[in-house]
Amino acid sequence: MSDASTIDSAGPAAAGTRPVPTANADVMHIPGEDGLPWFGMAREFLTDPRGMSRRMRDTYGPVFRTRFIGQRTVSLSGVEGLELVLLDREKNFSSEQGWDHTIGRFFRRGLMLLDFDEHRFHRRIMQAAFKRDALEHYMASMDEVVERSLTHWRDSDDFRFYPAVKQLTLDNAAVAFLGIALGSEADRLNTAFIDSVAASIALIRIPIPGLGYWRGLKGRELLQDFFRTQIPERRKSQGQDMFTRLCHATDDEGRRFSDDDIVDHMIFLMMAAHDTLTSSLTTAAYGLAAHPEWQQRLRAEAAVTGDGPLAYDQLDALPQTEWVFNEALRMWGPVPFVPRRTQREFEFQGVRIPANVQVGVSPDAAHYDPEIWTDPERFDPERFSPERAEHKRHLFAYCPYGGGAHKCIGMHFALILAKVMLRRLVMQFDIALPDGRSHAMQHLPIPKPKDGLPLILTPRG
Ligand code: HEM
Repeated sequence: MSDASTIDSAGPAAAGTRPVPTANADVMHIPGEDGLPWFGMAREFLTDPRGMSRRMRDTYGPVFRTRFIGQRTVSLSGVEGLELVLLDREKNFSSEQGWDHTIGRFFRRGLMLLDFDEHRFHRRIMQAAFKRDALEHYMASMDEVVERSLTHWRDSDDFRFYPAVKQLTLDNAAVAFLGIALGSEADRLNTAFIDSVAASIALIRIPIPGLGYWRGLKGRELLQDFFRTQIPERRKSQGQDMFTRLCHATDDEGRRFSDDDIVDHMIFLMMAAHDTLTSSLTTAAYGLAAHPEWQQRLRAEAAVTGDGPLAYDQLDALPQTEWVFNEALRMWGPVPFVPRRTQREFEFQGVRIPANVQVGVSPDAAHYDPEIWTDPERFDPERFSPERAEHKRHLFAYCPYGGGAHKCIGMHFALILAKVMLRRLVMQFDIALPDGRSHAMQHLPIPKPKDGLPLILTPRG
């Protein structure tokens, strides 16, 4: 697919050749627990991951061992662990091998599942699809999708925010990522995509025809076919969507992605964006519904941006909307744990951690650290104001997007969609929680209110 002026990405380290170790080295000298046979500590982890981390840390100290579905993980607590692992100055922590156990089968060769020099090489090319002019184009279609969705929400009985905003992020992805119109093709791709994401985190991973895991594999095949078939045409077109941009993207030396790279990156990008956006927009709406004074504050700042679509230059006019979104990400971050696998032995807080061990760090633990945050259990967006700036008390005090080489490439995209969506929401509706609903949250695999967040939306004016 390359022409004389470009070089396809053979990249440093040939594609997919690095073996991914499946078994940990011995970590039994590290204090911790195994839980039940095979399941390990799955029950406690799934129902109360934050409480479990706190209990383990209080019992065993800052470095402890847990087990989850047959796999032992060594947790390195606190901001020190986050800084060591995410900045990874010694190139000792493989992201590919860390994530492989959960999502490797479906998302192998996505950007997050590449390491070190090869990862840097791919990230530099991908950056072209996240520059300002690209974001401006994605933003132009966002407002339209949001407006259309809000019209449906206005007319809906038994409105639940989570499924509604899930559809909104799918529609947004069809337009901004894939460059296709909403309709039956978008629906077909969305279903394939949802099936493959569901299968990637399924506990039972046997492809029995008709069941979830099998549907996921079929979904991945359909997406692969869609992208592969379209690439020749997209390489010639001038489309402004993310897919077409990846087909044209080059690094400073003119190197670009092969067809296989584009397929793998696009499928991963859709996954990386979808649940994270759905979850964080939902928890932000929950925060607003539970705190009407913040609806008023956001409405007041939205008023200065007029009634039309939000322009890129107006994004900075919505600082308090950003604080609300930040606070939702602090309290209910969609990626509460980041896994890695060690390449060499090292020592942390006096504990020896061997090579080839699954380790994990937790943004969530930093986000609730009472030594960093004032009253961390409280929804208090003002903590992000320049006067208080609690998030600046440590480099890793606030890290919902991770940090270091793998820091989320889509973080600006996420914030733009949040501003576009929350602005329209407060301008058009008063939002309230129905009386007597439970406030229970599901934490994993993605944070969301267990009841899907029923909301009473009262149209304004
Ligand atoms: C609120 C929304 C989001 C949150 C909280 C979030 C969080 C994260 C985190 C924590 C990581 C790092 C994981 C690690 O180090 O192992 C990450 C990586 C990534 N995210 Fe996001 N994400 C969000 C939205 C998005 C969106 C909208 C996109 C795409 C448009 C995206 C694309 C990616 C990609 C490609 C990576 C891998 C980066 C790399 O390995 O270099 N994310 N995200």
